[in-house]
Amino acid sequence: MSEPLNRRDFLKAAAIAAGPAVISARGANEKINIGWIGVGTRGYAALDWLHTAAPNDVRITAICDTYQGYIERAQDRMKTVWGNTPKVYADYRELLADPSIDAVYIMTPEHLHHEMGVAAMKANKHMYIEKPLAHTIEEGYDIVHAWEKSGKIAQVGTQNRSSSIYKRAKELIDKGMIGDAHFVRAFWYRNSLPNDPAWRYVIPPEATTANTDWNRFLGPATKRPWSPERYFQWRLYWDYSGGISTDLLVHQTDIVNYLCGKTVPKTCIASGGIYRWTDKNDDREVPDTFSAIYEYPDNFQINYSCYFGNDHYGYGEQICGNEGTIEVMNRQDLYFTPESFKGKPPDAVKSREPIHLNGKADFNEGDGAISHFRNYIQSILGNEKPIAPPTIGQQAAISGHMATISFKNQKKVIWDEAASKVHFA
Ligand SMILES: NC(=O)c1ccc[n+]([C@@H]2O[C@H](COP(=O)([O-])OP(=O)(O)OC[C@H]3O[C@@H](n4cnc5c(N)ncnc54)[C@H](O)[C@@H]3O)[C@@H](O)[C@H]2O)c1
Repeated sequence: MSEPLNRRDFLKAAAIAAGPAVISARGANEKINIGWIGVGTRGYAALDWLHTAAPNDVRITAICDTYQGYIERAQDRMKTVWGNTPKVYADYRELLADPSIDAVYIMTPEHLHHEMGVAAMKANKHMYIEKPLAHTIEEGYDIVHAWEKSGKIAQVGTQNRSSSIYKRAKELIDKGMIGDAHFVRAFWYRNSLPNDPAWRYVIPPEATTANTDWNRFLGPATKRPWSPERYFQWRLYWDYSGGISTDLLVHQTDIVNYLCGKTVPKTCIASGGIYRWTDKNDDREVPDTFSAIYEYPDNFQINYSCYFGNDHYGYGEQICGNEGTIEVMNRQDLYFTPESFKGKPPDAVKSREPIHLNGKADFNEGDGAISHFRNYIQSILGNEKPIAPPTIGQQAAISGHMATISFKNQKKVIWDEAASKVHFA
């Protein structure tokens, strides 16, 4: 009887498949060596999450960032949580050229995903890349194609898919608990005090061009003079972000795709503007108020809204079926409510009891990020398949880009499946 591959054998087999540069660098007792690109807000917090997800299977051996203050902060955290001090790179290309690195995390702003994602695939690394997959539809396809050629594992950071509460929601929908679903409401509402405008994140007071590599941050974007606002608050500017569409909405179209078996919408019409954060000194470009209506094949619609001036309704997806409703609120609470049919439900529906499950109480799980990391690492080890590979990440990103294009052009956008492009109605 043949023995199953142990981890070291698997890494060796993977290294053989990847080529001689990787195999020569690997030794005995190997863990997966991770190179980490971007230790800002998400990338820094996620150093801890990976430790929770896979403490015995990986080690972070290299870190790359273009702001020295964040490098130092990450090195401190690495010592505390992981007990080692990774090598530091200022240029991600040098990190990718290091043959000892098996896999990367790309946790940088949206406009850099394309060049970093394609380069990581070409360097034969496994890749976790944050959402949105890329800044444009075309760039996203470049990453998908580079990944397909590479044969490596890749996971996009749409972590809702890994969360137990959403997996349970999918089981209930697949079992037919809500009947047929043709309509979904999805929303994300936020608020903050007037002295803390939305997405105006704190700029470290000591950040200057001496310790921040502005040109590397700009990457392929239009050259401009140093702007700490653009560097640390990049979400507010079109050069680096699609705003609400690609930053927030993609999580929700992605999870609706997962729950309801959808992929790419047929059409999108979006509307919005800067309604709340209108201070004359605030040069934000992206809307703080945004709505998008999507039509999908097979009679299916998503009605999406986002507003940064009231958080009463929070975050949610409400899948409205003709026999019941599944709601996931704040990525934590799952509610199933059967339709009442004015007190006279058919027998099949009458027997369905309402359900409420809570992510923490029922699954001991937060928003799915740690499970998503675990799935990535287990996929590299050959034990699982990634739940959000680039093809899936691209589907979610396309819906985000359709909304941005519709908003910017004030026109309804149609998805041309054959050409993999949008055009206007
Ligand atoms: N999955 C989620 O729920 C979730 C949540 C938040 C953010 N994100 C995503 O994570 C990514 C990062 O977002 P963030 O909020 O952490 O942004 P951030 O600005 O806080 O962090 C970005 C980091 O990238 C660094 N950086 C910039 N240019 C670089 C370069 N050329 N080379 C190396 N490092 C560079 C910056 O110095 C910074 O440390 C984005 O894609 C965002 O959409 C995902």
